[in-house]
Amino acid sequence: MTTTHHAADRAVGPAARPVLRSAYQRSVAAYWNNEKDPVNIRLGEVDGLFHHHYGIGEPDPAMAADPGQFDDDAVIVEMHRLETAQADLLLDYLGDIRPEDRLLDAGSGRGGTSFMARQRFGARVDGVSISETQVEFANDQARERGLAGEVSFHLRNMLDTGFPDASFQGIWTNETTMYVDLHQLFGEFARLLSYGGRYVCITGCYNDVSGGRSPSVRHIDQHYRCDIHPRSEYFRALTANNFVPINVVDLTGPTIPYWELRSKSAVATGIEEPFLTAYREGSFHYLLIAADYIGG
Ligand SMILES: C[S@@+](CC[C@H](N)C(=O)[O-])C[C@H]1O[C@@H](n2cnc3c(N)ncnc32)[C@H](O)[C@@H]1O
Repeated sequence: MTTTHHAADRAVGPAARPVLRSAYQRSVAAYWNNEKDPVNIRLGEVDGLFHHHYGIGEPDPAMAADPGQFDDDAVIVEMHRLETAQADLLLDYLGDIRPEDRLLDAGSGRGGTSFMARQRFGARVDGVSISETQVEFANDQARERGLAGEVSFHLRNMLDTGFPDASFQGIWTNETTMYVDLHQLFGEFARLLSYGGRYVCITGCYNDVSGGRSPSVRHIDQHYRCDIHPRSEYFRALTANNFVPINVVDLTGPTIPYWELRSKSAVATGIEEPFLTAYREGSFHYLLIAADYIGG
């Protein structure tokens, strides 16, 4: 496994420390380096915003009732709209971001949410991912958009980003926290945020109340090589690192129509039924959490 550093990394990067620290992280990086699921690529080609996350909101009612009546492209456009709506909602919770602020997209994928943040706030955005192919793809997109230097992607580990202390006003994770230890992650975010800075997370987590990991949650873990955390772990790790939650939004209901549509689409991957089962039986939630950093 190569751990090539881009020129931008050498300036502020964690000089001697490798990006990938464990066999597990190498396997996650390999997964994302090789990932070419049409559900991500074809949706991104709709308008050039490439997401690796799920959607929220109501699809067109006629399409939801009978997707078979519509051609594949129309269904793909609709799913992409719901995925973009998810990222828009995440950005709504970042608070008052000014053009002079800096933002961090931790686990940035192909960069869709970063470009949306840049467009909305005018702020500089840095994204980090442990997938070299994703970082190259997203930096190519930044160049094509004339945004190189304003939106930059780095081959770095979000547990140890190498950015200076207190250098960001906002940080988000859009479906990335299930790959890491939350105490380590929020410890790094506490170092990176300035006092009063905002962290926003959208994630799947399992339900402590229903007791442990259900078979469907285990299935999702195996499919994505991730390690889904219980809901409680988010709040424990946030509190331990001086983060005070201000919003918790249960997006489980709003994401189910997306999964129903996706399960009948030409780009279904086979993971749709475990998601639908887990959400409907209540063993799994789709949560947005926003929290302010109040450490020193
Ligand atoms: C499901 S994708 C989400 C991508 C993006 N946030 C989005 O919404 O499109 C998960 C991402 O987490 C990244 N990732 C996983 N573990 C990481 C780590 N330790 N450091 C940085 N990125 C990581 C992967 O490389 C991948 O880009």
